[in-house]
Amino acid sequence: MINNTNKVRIFDTTLRDGEQSPGVSINPEQKLQIAFKLDQLGVDAIEAGFPIVSQGEIQAVRNIKKSGLKAEICGLARTLDSDIDSVIKCDLDYVHTFIATSDIHMRYKLKMTPEEVIQKAVKAVEYAKSHGLKVEFSAEDATRSDMTFLTKVFTAVVEAGADRIDIPDTVGYATPEYISGLVSLVLKRIAVPISMHCHNDFGLAVANSIAGINAGAACAHVTVNGLGERAGNASLEEFVMALQCLYRKEHNIHTKLLYETSRSVSNIMGIAVQANKAIIGENAFGHESGIHTHGILNNPMTYEPIDPEMVGRKRWLQAGKHAGAHGIRAMLRDFGIECTDEQLHEIVEKQKNLADRGKSISTAELLSIAGEVLQNKRFEEKFKLYDFHIVTGMNLIPTAVIRLNTNGKDLIASEIGVGPVDAALKAIQKVASEIANVKIREYKLDSITGGSDALAEVSVKVEDKSGNVVSARKAGEDVVVASVQAMVDAINKIMLRKILYSEN
Ligand code: KIV
Ligand code: ZN
Repeated sequence: MINNTNKVRIFDTTLRDGEQSPGVSINPEQKLQIAFKLDQLGVDAIEAGFPIVSQGEIQAVRNIKKSGLKAEICGLARTLDSDIDSVIKCDLDYVHTFIATSDIHMRYKLKMTPEEVIQKAVKAVEYAKSHGLKVEFSAEDATRSDMTFLTKVFTAVVEAGADRIDIPDTVGYATPEYISGLVSLVLKRIAVPISMHCHNDFGLAVANSIAGINAGAACAHVTVNGLGERAGNASLEEFVMALQCLYRKEHNIHTKLLYETSRSVSNIMGIAVQANKAIIGENAFGHESGIHTHGILNNPMTYEPIDPEMVGRKRWLQAGKHAGAHGIRAMLRDFGIECTDEQLHEIVEKQKNLADRGKSISTAELLSIAGEVLQNKRFEEKFKLYDFHIVTGMNLIPTAVIRLNTNGKDLIASEIGVGPVDAALKAIQKVASEIANVKIREYKLDSITGGSDALAEVSVKVEDKSGNVVSARKAGEDVVVASVQAMVDAINKIMLRKILYSEN
C-alpha cells in the first residue's frame, strides 16, 4: 500500500541492513520479536531480510509475513530471478531489488557495462511484476553514480513497472546539498515515490535523509539505533524526532515507544548504544553540571530541547565534581530528604572530594554521605548481603543460594539459571521479593582492564512495580561477586526510595 498522506513513510531495515552490522546474527525467533516491536512502534514498512542468504532467513521472513503485522513486509533481492524467487518463497508481495550503478561498482564488482546493468535491472523488475510483486528499486551507490546514467536507469525501471525508487547513499559519501539536487532532478524525470537510504560513514545519514525528504522524497530507510553496515544507517529515532520537532513533518511513529524499542533491539542484537547517542543514549537526558541542573530545575527547556517523556524516557541528575547545590538538593528531595543550607554544603563538598578521586558517584553513595552528614540511620542499607554460594560446571545446572539479612532477620533462597550470574540475580530477586518486587531492566558487564584477571564493571538497572528505576554499579575481579553486590545495591536503593517516601 502506497502511503498517500503527507506523512513521511518510515521503511525500517533493522532486520536487513541492521542485521548486516559486523558481528550481528540473530535467529528467526529473535527476528520475529524485533518485527513485533517495530510494528508496535508504527513503522510503515519492515524489510524483514535477504531471503536468498539462507534457509533460516527464508523461514524467519515467512514467519514475520504470516504474523499479521500492520506494516508492509518486504524482502531484499539482487536483480536475479533466483533472489526474487526466494522472496516469493517467503509469501511476500513486496520486493526491494537492487543493482549498482556507479562506475566503480559496475567495473570492479559487477564487471558489467552500463547497458548491461540497465537491461538486468529492467528484466528483474519485469520478472517481479509478472509475479504480482510490488517493486522498490534501488540503484546501489546512487550518490557516486553519473547523474545522467542514474536517471536513465530510474526511468527505465519505472517504465518496466517499478512502484518505488530508492536512492542509496551506500558509502555515506553525499552531502545534504548534493542529496537535495539529486532528488529534485530525479523527481523531474519520474513520477513514482522516492525513498532515501543513507549510510552514516561521515555522520551525515540523518541530515542527508532529511535533505532528501525536504527535496520531495516520500520515505526514508532507517534502522533502530542506527545499526547497519560499517557506521550504520540513518537512526530511526534521530530521524523521526528531527522530522517532527525541527521540520514539523508528520509520521506514524509512536514516539513514546522509541526508547523501549531501542533497548529491545540493543539487547537482542547484542550491540550497545553509545552513552551520548542522541535521543536513546544513556546520557541523552542526564545532567551533572551545576549550571545545567540549576537551569533544568527552573525550567527543563533551558537545557533540554525536548521533553524526555516524548520518547519514553525520564530525565536524571548525576552527582559528581561538576554538580552544584541545586542539583544535589533536587536529588536528595527525590528521596524525600530535606536538609539545611549548611548540611547541603557539607554534602556537596564531601561528594566532590570523592569525585576528585576519579570516582563516579552513585545515588547510594550520595545517600550514604547524606546519612553521615544528617546523622540519620534511615539511609542505611535495608538488605545486608551475608553470604552466597554458587554451583556451576559443565554438566551441572548453575544454582545459587543467597543469604540476606533485613532488620535482623535472615532470608535465604535458591534459584537456578542459564549461568552463575543469572542464577544469583534470580535468587536475590526471590529472596527480596516479599519486600521489594523488582525486575531487571538492564544488566551490563564491561571489562575495565585486560587479561584473565581483568577488572570487570557490572551495572544493573532495576524497576519496581510503581515504575521507579534505579541503577547500581560495582567493579571487581570476580564477575559473579560484582554482579551480586550491584544487584543488592540496586534493591537497597529502590527500597530506600520507598521507605523515605512513605515516611514523608
Ligand atoms: O546501502 C545500500 O546500498 C543497500 C542496498 C541493498 C540498497 O543497502
Ligand atoms: Zn544499505
